[in-house]
Amino acid sequence: MSARIIDGKQLAHEIKSQVRSEAEAYLIRNGRRMGLAVILVGDDFASNIYVRNKINACNEVNIRSFSFRLPASTSESELIELIHRLNNDESVDGILVQLPLPPHMRQNVVLSHISVYKDADGFLAENAGNLMLGNPSLNACTPCGIIELIRSTGRPIDGANAVVIGRSNIVGKPIALMLLENHATVTMCHSHTTDYADFTRRADILVVAAGVKGLVTGDMVKEGAVVIDVGMNRDGKNICGDCDFDSVSKVAGYITPVPGGVGPMTIAMLLKNIVKAALRLE
Ligand code: GUN
Repeated sequence: MSARIIDGKQLAHEIKSQVRSEAEAYLIRNGRRMGLAVILVGDDFASNIYVRNKINACNEVNIRSFSFRLPASTSESELIELIHRLNNDESVDGILVQLPLPPHMRQNVVLSHISVYKDADGFLAENAGNLMLGNPSLNACTPCGIIELIRSTGRPIDGANAVVIGRSNIVGKPIALMLLENHATVTMCHSHTTDYADFTRRADILVVAAGVKGLVTGDMVKEGAVVIDVGMNRDGKNICGDCDFDSVSKVAGYITPVPGGVGPMTIAMLLKNIVKAALRLE
């Protein structure tokens, strides 16, 4: 058997088209564009690329972007002051502070100052708590994208055995909660799990977000499973995921490629979060 490839680029393109329609209708109704403020502190190479991609994506869908590039020497209180200003700025619907922050800043303290209604990344404790309680909230973008990727296969989440490898606050934990909310039976594996294969072989849906190249091989996957590879690892000049694509794709029913799977969906879901944030205020 050879797995079908889940095309994250194409799905992201379709979601962006929907967002563009909603953003344009919003502009007509309100006489202003939806807006995202993006704050980058310092000049981390990868962060610069991520921020540029996010701003370009906003431009593509007619969402206004406000870019704040601050020197690494910026104090925590100056950054918090800027966040407060943006919280009170009606032209800003979403605020995103690109991570990592320079070492002299306390990430949790800084993020906690973002208004819960403008938390474009869905990283705030209150939004994470609302996700756990099943309340409406702005949710982390990558797990939202993963749910859409799984839905695009037509395979049911309801009643599925879902296994998540990785327990980060921005992928592993929220995707486990979202799968649970969709009535899957969810198992979480992590670096202290003694035998991953014991669990992964029973997974109808397998989400791999460990950041370990080649962690999952074909012999660890159930025939016909939906495999979502969240990994982004360097492989010489290329990028590869956490799954050994050649062997896993021989066994799985569906698989996301790296690149071109989860990555493009993260930005598409960020744009959806801005729509969600803006519509709350309409
Ligand atoms: N740094 C790496 N990924 C992300 C992300 O999704 N959001 C933010 N704010 N920073 C990041």
